[in-house]
Amino acid sequence: MQTDPRFPNLRIVDHPIVLDRLSKMRMTQTPTRDFRTLLYEITLLMGYEITRDFATEKRTIETPVTATEAPFLVEDEPILIPILRAGLGMTEGLVTLLPKAVIGHVGVARDENHRPVEYLVKLPTIGNKHVIMVDPMLATGNSAAHTLDVLKRHGVKGSQIRFLSLLAAPEGVQTLLEKHPDVEIYTASLDEGLNEKAYIVPGLGDAGDRLFGTF
Ligand code: URA
Repeated sequence: MQTDPRFPNLRIVDHPIVLDRLSKMRMTQTPTRDFRTLLYEITLLMGYEITRDFATEKRTIETPVTATEAPFLVEDEPILIPILRAGLGMTEGLVTLLPKAVIGHVGVARDENHRPVEYLVKLPTIGNKHVIMVDPMLATGNSAAHTLDVLKRHGVKGSQIRFLSLLAAPEGVQTLLEKHPDVEIYTASLDEGLNEKAYIVPGLGDAGDRLFGTF
């Protein structure tokens, strides 16, 4: 995993298999069917990396050969928070890794000035559990910052939350560093920046449209 001296809140999961699949996702000619599969596979790989520090505890089990002490996850029911709608495309990969995960939803659209407009908040009881917030595109950072505000208003601490994105623009990482410096961000690529329409450059276009085929 790489870091960037400008952004102490950022970890870049630049594994070669992740990068190869990400390049395929960026390509205009990649159809929706493949785009979905690639996002699923990348999320699975990134999920494996970002849960590396999850605690385990030893329990006594019987193998067919002998009794032994074997490690199990202390917490295997973390909370996943996809930011709608593109965040849904990253949920399945995490559920494959953590099948007992509980899923809350936050729906945030962008208005014409790229400001977040909330249209849905449906959260489970979170308590002290790990929270993994997902949105493939960390662009302006406004939707992510808004969702983090919502979570913190519900009593969730920043240190409980990790934000998993696929691509990040420096502008968005900076926004989160200023507003939510206590939340760790993971991404597969820190891209160049945003264009005048607040799309990530080089990016992959509109992640929701490419994921759901709504062109
Ligand atoms: N949302 C997207 O889907 N794509 C971008 O490039 C930025 C925000």
